[in-house]
Amino acid sequence: MLKNKVIVLGISGGIAAYKAADLASKLVQCGAVVKVVMTWEATQLVQPLTFQALTGNPVVTDMFEPAPLSAITHVSLADEADIIAIVPATANIISKMAAGIADDILTCTVLATKAPIVIAPAMHNNMYINPVTQDNISKLKARGFTVIPAAHGRLASGSIGYGRLPEITEIMGIIQQTLGKKGDLAGKRIVVTAGGTQEAIDPVRYITNNSSGKMGYAVAEAARDRGATVTLITTPTGLSPVAGVDVINIRSAQQMKEAVVKATVKTDALLMVAAVADYMPKTTAAQKIKKGAGGLTLELVKTPDILSEVKGKFIKVGFAAETQDLISNAQKKLTGKGLDIIVANDVSAKGSGFGSETNKVTILKKDGKPEDLPLMSKREVAEKILDNVSKLLKGKK
Ligand code: CTP
Repeated sequence: MLKNKVIVLGISGGIAAYKAADLASKLVQCGAVVKVVMTWEATQLVQPLTFQALTGNPVVTDMFEPAPLSAITHVSLADEADIIAIVPATANIISKMAAGIADDILTCTVLATKAPIVIAPAMHNNMYINPVTQDNISKLKARGFTVIPAAHGRLASGSIGYGRLPEITEIMGIIQQTLGKKGDLAGKRIVVTAGGTQEAIDPVRYITNNSSGKMGYAVAEAARDRGATVTLITTPTGLSPVAGVDVINIRSAQQMKEAVVKATVKTDALLMVAAVADYMPKTTAAQKIKKGAGGLTLELVKTPDILSEVKGKFIKVGFAAETQDLISNAQKKLTGKGLDIIVANDVSAKGSGFGSETNKVTILKKDGKPEDLPLMSKREVAEKILDNVSKLLKGKK
């Protein structure tokens, strides 16, 4: 989590510097303490005052500005940083960092820090793909820098290519992942499913349910931010992709089963958060079904029960979305499906339904007392579930 983390946000002089303002604002909204350091070139593109207003902290632009305390600015920033994020990182600053040059406040801070460093290169396509830049990026990666690859798309010059700054949500995700690298799930592999499956009727229609995917995405993000290597198997959702995890896109229950079987060959835990359809059309029409004179009857057959059928020595967590007899129905699924944990969720309760930002759940365990949790954000629910997974994994060692 970003709360109270000190993030030194380094901004170098690329046109994407204006997007760093949005990043600074979002980091502050998440509770981070953001200290901005700008190169002289960056100050030609965006006023330091913009960042000062957004972060509530003075912006450092000059090596030789007298420091308010007895501290030497670049050393104190380097020491107090939990992480340094350079967004955008130009070809110039990348090459300076690769060579160990320290001729301004930002490169000095980078050289003086022991904190993890994330960089988001952004520049013209030709500069980005230039072997010099790519070599320098490889050098930084080899030294432990986390490099977020530039995105493909329209560049400031009007041409199309690699060099765009990735989405701010992706940069935020990678910052959180980097901060959590040594978390309690470090070295663990976690498979998470999310969304509602789509069972095709014909090429244009399908049967699905109300699942938004938010709970599954929250679990995937939380596991990532506690150091796990995460595979997210997801149906199409309207959500921003989860950065820093291996995403497998599927639609149907059958496809989800195949992906889960493959992903769980080597895993420590499977969390089946997805709302898997229980029935699918017996046949999928090859062509769009045309409207006839009468009604239409669909014959449905059972989908595979993924949680019951997938075998392995990993921890299994299920979700029971119920509208009545919550605990007894969930308890039946816990034993019937051979699970370690089931998260019982009354989807008809206020603030707890599909698509909401919050959830109210009871965590039932094969061994241990049930945990009846108050209404909380889906991210907080995810953390509570992972506390239990983490405990079980420690016991397994
Ligand atoms: N699940 C699954 N495969 C299915 C159906 C459900 O793996 N075909 C998983 C879900 O991902 C969830 C758990 O089983 O983690 C419970 O899902 P739920 O829909 O509540 O239970 P069902 O077994 O489908 O029972 P019912 O719909 O009758 O309540």
